[in-house]
Amino acid sequence: MRILGIETSCDETSVAVLEVKKDKIKILSNIVSSQVKIHSFYGGVVPSLAAREHEKNLKPVFEKALKEAKTKMVGIDFIALTVGPGLEIALWKGINFAVMTARLHKKPLIGINHLEGHIYSNWLPSIANFKSKTLNPKKIFPALNLIVSGGHTQLVLMAGHGKFKIVGETLDDAAGEAFDKVAKMTSLGYPGGPIVSLRATKFKNQNSKIKIIFPRPMINSKKYNFSFSGLKTAVLYKLKELEKNKIKLTDNLINHICHEFQQAAIDVLVFKTIRAAKEYKVKLILLSGGVSANKLLRKTLGKEAERIKLFYSQPDFQYTGDNAAMIALAGYYKIRNKKSGAKIAKLKAEPNLRVKNW
Ligand code: KG4
Ligand code: ZN
Repeated sequence: MRILGIETSCDETSVAVLEVKKDKIKILSNIVSSQVKIHSFYGGVVPSLAAREHEKNLKPVFEKALKEAKTKMVGIDFIALTVGPGLEIALWKGINFAVMTARLHKKPLIGINHLEGHIYSNWLPSIANFKSKTLNPKKIFPALNLIVSGGHTQLVLMAGHGKFKIVGETLDDAAGEAFDKVAKMTSLGYPGGPIVSLRATKFKNQNSKIKIIFPRPMINSKKYNFSFSGLKTAVLYKLKELEKNKIKLTDNLINHICHEFQQAAIDVLVFKTIRAAKEYKVKLILLSGGVSANKLLRKTLGKEAERIKLFYSQPDFQYTGDNAAMIALAGYYKIRNKKSGAKIAKLKAEPNLRVKNW
């Protein structure tokens, strides 16, 4: 079975072709056209610009994806596309393109939840060696997903393919959003995650005479919800305090702030994930979303999962960000679970779409 995936929920235009035979997954192509440079000028994603770029890029990205996969639309069985959550006008660009393509080539369409797509990035094989990951279904469910992106932070329990339940989520800012805001406050640019984590690694402890301790919001609350807005505000107050005391914001001081902020965010994410994993007696912990590119988070969560003798999975670096291969794969599992059947006319952008609880 060959699936064409389309992703336009935020600032990446992506089209992929996936081949699945007896659950063996092969990525024939996964083209991602990033708009990061355009949006970085404005310090964040500008929805109207994102939509304009999707409009411009969809056709060439689609053609490139088919060419690289050495296939044509006749060789495609399904089109899977992101319908939400995300930026409404950006989502509509992908939906309109998919509907047009589906009508022209008489192909069925399946609407996919972007966050379910992130979850499935864990099953994507490396393009380099076509090696399928061996996540044996008998050994992995129930599993717990920590999804951390620019728009979302959720803990999602997974009883099996397509069987999800949200057990916790952020009450305000997403983890990636907090990284982005800290980068903005310290004039490090956009997106914040990669630069804040890089600056954190450069922090030289012995050179710093300043004490910085940030809070771990909601770490002790019994539920599994998160809050990152207070942490972001603590960074802002620290910066104001430094300014008031006429302390120069040197490179090492910025590194120090990035280091402490990152540690606080990771402490909360890992602590709550491990506690939920124990309570729900899961066999596997899966990390996903743009923030899953964070090396310290990968290392810490992996170590903690190992400490409590659980399996742990994280996506290859190339699939941590938004891409259409993960959407195509989520589509495959939806088809396999016979949850498909979305009619072309029924698809619509769902900017606030939530993972459906089983
Ligand atoms: O999943 P994604 O590509 O887009 C959304 O669906 O939101 O996630 C983007 C987010 C941004 O907030 C970005 O700053 C963050 O992922 N991110 C990181 C890292 N790389 C990207 N956050 C922390 N550490 C990183 N290394
Ligand atoms: Zn995403």
